[in-house]
Amino acid sequence: MHRVVITEGDEPVSEILIAGGLLSDAAGYLPQREDRRQVAILTQPSVRSLADSVAESILDGGVAASVIPLPDGEAAKTLSVIEDVALALNRLGLTRADTVFGIGGGATTDTAGFVAATYLRGVECVLAPTTLLGAVDAAVGGKTGVNVGGKNLVGAFRHPSRVLVDIDVLESLPMDLRRQGTAEALKTGFVGDPDLVELYREHGIDAPLDEVVGRAIGVKARVVSEDFREGGLRAVLNYGHTAGHAVEVAAGISHGEAVAIGMVAAGAVGERTVGFDRRVEQEELIASLGLPTRSPNVHAGEIERLMALDKKRDTGGIRFVVLEDFGIPRVVHPDAATVRASLHAIGID
Ligand code: GLY
Repeated sequence: MHRVVITEGDEPVSEILIAGGLLSDAAGYLPQREDRRQVAILTQPSVRSLADSVAESILDGGVAASVIPLPDGEAAKTLSVIEDVALALNRLGLTRADTVFGIGGGATTDTAGFVAATYLRGVECVLAPTTLLGAVDAAVGGKTGVNVGGKNLVGAFRHPSRVLVDIDVLESLPMDLRRQGTAEALKTGFVGDPDLVELYREHGIDAPLDEVVGRAIGVKARVVSEDFREGGLRAVLNYGHTAGHAVEVAAGISHGEAVAIGMVAAGAVGERTVGFDRRVEQEELIASLGLPTRSPNVHAGEIERLMALDKKRDTGGIRFVVLEDFGIPRVVHPDAATVRASLHAIGID
């Protein structure tokens, strides 16, 4: 089993366990607590039977467990869903000694995390991501939130006390979902673990998931332990997201595909600003994993407008994370010609 710990100062604040079969014995992997009387499981329809079996495992362990269904995907991330869940938790009599347990993809764990951060001003949160994308990004690092006008505009920074990443569940994902998560996993390799990049070069999309997830979460944990509230370093986790997020919104493609395209754009910015000389190699690796490297047909002006609107912008203008080399990220504010060149690199003229 891989075990990764996130710290604040010297204090461990969040523990991530990564192994096959964790959810078959979920009760045994909850944080040890004498006073817990019940667990409220928040889940999405597509993994309902898994959530029901986790509830049974917890009941067998002598603690009450209820399953509260959320809508699938982004439809869960609304304030009205939060209100419904809070009312349900109140009816159950959930107390501060109890636990909210989110089981599902990134939207489910973002919502469960926000409920746990705010219900009774904070109750224990445990998360079990059921997608690779969720495992290597959303469920780890304590960003929680819902969409109000813009993505994640209302939320809180609060770590889950434990994250259970069941590799057997991730192994059973359809290839399309696995590919999307691969883009985010590869991203963490580019910014913080060249050995993870090598792993993908060697094995392609079939790189062993326990090692991929262990390494990707290891990078994220190191970054988040140093900069929980995104004062500086944490921004490197947004590699590929500046152009990627804009293309995601403008073209309506999936997040994983958008990040893959965004990393190609960032490669071009890095080449012009900090002398990154592995742009072609990076692009070939992304393509070899079956991920896109060119944007669907969208207007350059629309992409530039969306990049300028991005909530992660700062006073210096459009911000790009770039690489000096694999594992050496930097943040730059490229000039207009460089931004244009990066869009050209992903087929936007
Ligand atoms: N998804 C980027 C972060 O957690 O900071």
